[in-house]
Amino acid sequence: MTTPLLLICPVGLEDLVRGDLRDQHGVVSQLTGAGQITVDDPLSVDLVGPMVERVQVPLDGDESISRAAELIGVTRPAFRVQAQDALTRADWIARVESRGWVNDPADWALNIDVDAGAIDLGPWHWSRRIGQLRRLPATTPGPVAAGLLRMAKLRDGDRLLDPCAGVGTVPIVDALLRGGPAYSIERDPEATRLAAQNAANLSVQQSVSVLEADATDLPFDDGSMDRVVSDLPFGKRIGSNELNKTLYPAILREIERVLTADGRCVLLSDDKRVFAESVAHARGLKVSGERVVRYNGVTPTAYIVRRSRRPKRKRS
Ligand SMILES: C[S@@+](CC[C@H](N)C(=O)[O-])C[C@H]1O[C@@H](n2cnc3c(N)ncnc32)[C@H](O)[C@@H]1O
Repeated sequence: MTTPLLLICPVGLEDLVRGDLRDQHGVVSQLTGAGQITVDDPLSVDLVGPMVERVQVPLDGDESISRAAELIGVTRPAFRVQAQDALTRADWIARVESRGWVNDPADWALNIDVDAGAIDLGPWHWSRRIGQLRRLPATTPGPVAAGLLRMAKLRDGDRLLDPCAGVGTVPIVDALLRGGPAYSIERDPEATRLAAQNAANLSVQQSVSVLEADATDLPFDDGSMDRVVSDLPFGKRIGSNELNKTLYPAILREIERVLTADGRCVLLSDDKRVFAESVAHARGLKVSGERVVRYNGVTPTAYIVRRSRRPKRKRS
């Protein structure tokens, strides 16, 4: 009997996840909820793409718990139980402990989420499949970064720039998935330090150049970047809407300068009005597509931005 797998991704990326499963692996899936995709066929962990955050098995009695352990290949996995009701929780813990498994809420391999009716497979989590990054409050979740990169359609050898890279999530995920070359620009020294540390911890420091610099005065030649992918400051946790009125136009001017003639950008922002006005004023750039995503209580838009005319000037 096959057990359905539930793939959990940021809301708004489901069609991309399903398209990749179909086109790259011939796997048929169904959309079964916002940010939830169900696969009925057996699926190995290496086919789960980078836009998927978590993989679950529906919680359906003892059989499903045994199946979850089988999927992660551990006979007696450490587990934890999530349930609002304390009695239900205690009951489930006793039931699973009777199998000789250890209840370890700090270091679990299976998370039995009774309220959600699903079991999380720990070793199939994004951070275990792709990599663990040190984070700051405004850090882009890995699956969202992977979605932005997917929209950017990077080709082998393309030079990727993130001008507001924070702890380097976007360029580092690109380096892990594609091998770079990628450039991580950030003006905050602490975030830059973490970006360099993340790149070193994940052994991609050869593919990612981490620089402390200003996105409004980039240390790159005209037309030197094939792709620009960035989670811009939304003006909530970082900066303000008022600041974005000058910051966004200045960043877009620099992006326009460094982008190759056939370059493509994917820029994420929740300050949508200011972003739209800024692109409208950047006469050399235009929005050619957009996609709303939802994660962690925010609903920003990922804008695909391209040149609206060929670049004129050269600076080197
Ligand atoms: C939404 S966060 C980016 C998060 C990043 N993708 C990550 O995973 O850490 C926006 C970042 O833009 C940076 N930033 C704001 N203004 C900047 C500027 N003028 N030049 C470079 N970075 C800037 C902020 O310090 C912040 O780290």
